[in-house]
Parts: sequence; structure tokens; C-alpha cells
Amino acid sequence: MGDDSGKNTARAEKRIALTGFMGVGKTSVARHLAQMLRCERLDLDSLIEINEQRRIVEIIDGEGEAAYRKIETDNLKLALGKTSVRILSLGGGAWTVAENRDLIRESGLTSVWLESSFNHCWNNIRFSKKERPLARNKIAARKLFDDRQEIYCLADWHFIVKPDLTSFDVARQIHEEVFS
Ligand code: S3P
Repeated sequence: MGDDSGKNTARAEKRIALTGFMGVGKTSVARHLAQMLRCERLDLDSLIEINEQRRIVEIIDGEGEAAYRKIETDNLKLALGKTSVRILSLGGGAWTVAENRDLIRESGLTSVWLESSFNHCWNNIRFSKKERPLARNKIAARKLFDDRQEIYCLADWHFIVKPDLTSFDVARQIHEEVFS
């Protein structure tokens, strides 16, 4: 077999972690991408809520962000251990923790940043059913957004999510560029 078969194998085994600010659409993009690739996906926030038997908002409001980040890292380790999972969607703060970035890299996942404007994310946050305890008002959300841009930049791939693109469009673009 020639070189192409090696490339095909690498492509078939590629695993990615989706990061980006709250409201950018990580979970929806992950869902579409997993359908396109017919592969397993995992949402880190959902895993946390299942394992903790409580909602993220309860953890953050009850124990604070630092305690939440520890729980998040513990669950990230569990998620990365599930080697059949090829698409992992992170919560928006997971990638900002250096230990988490190291764990993701060491596990061989390619990191993908879904980048968008603050207003796009904020509109989605405002009208979403999901409670975001760290982004309850526009000023707090804006500050987090600005502070995190340079850390999201450390991801392997960047995709600009324009407001007129659907999560399906974004997934298709990632499918074409990252998995081909
Ligand atoms: C957070 C993002 C949330 C969730 C938690 C903290 C953050 O996930 O993990 O509320 O710090 O950005 P989404 O990015 O899916 O909203």
C-alpha cells in the first residue's frame, strides 16, 4: 500500500476537541460533525452534570469557579480516556486551563477553536435555555471574552463562525478541512 493508506488511517483516527466562547455553538457543531463522520462524540459539560448529578450552575454558584474547574479537569481526564470518542466539545472555560490544554495535546487530540464576534455569542447566550453563571450580564461576559481570545488562539485550528453560517455549515467546513 502506498502513502495514501497511511493518510487515510490518520484521518480515520483523528480526534478533535472543540473550544470557543460560550454561545458560539460548540455542542451543535459537534453533533453535526459526529453525524457526518458517523462517530462517537461527548460533551464535557453533559458528562460533568451526569457524573456530579447536579447542574453546572449549582456547582459554580454553590462552590465557586475554582472548585468547578477542578471537577472539570477530573471529568476531562475521564473523557479523554474514552478513546472511542472522536469529537469532544468542551465548556468555554476548559481550554483556558493550562493543565487541560496539556492533557488534550498529550492525548493526541487536535484542538479546534470556533471563533466568533462577541455580539454573536452574546445574542446566543441571552436567548439560550442553558444558564451561564459566569456570563450573567453583558459586562462580565465581555470581559471574559476579551481575556480569553489569546488563549483560544493557542488551538491548532481556527474556524471563523460568521452569524449567517449554521452549525451544520461550520461542521461541514471542519469535516472538509480537518478530516480530509
Ligand atoms: C463556561 C462555559 C460553559 C460551562 C460553564 C463555564 C465558561 O459551557 O462550562 O458555565 O467558563 O466559559 P459553554 O461554553 O458550553 O456555555
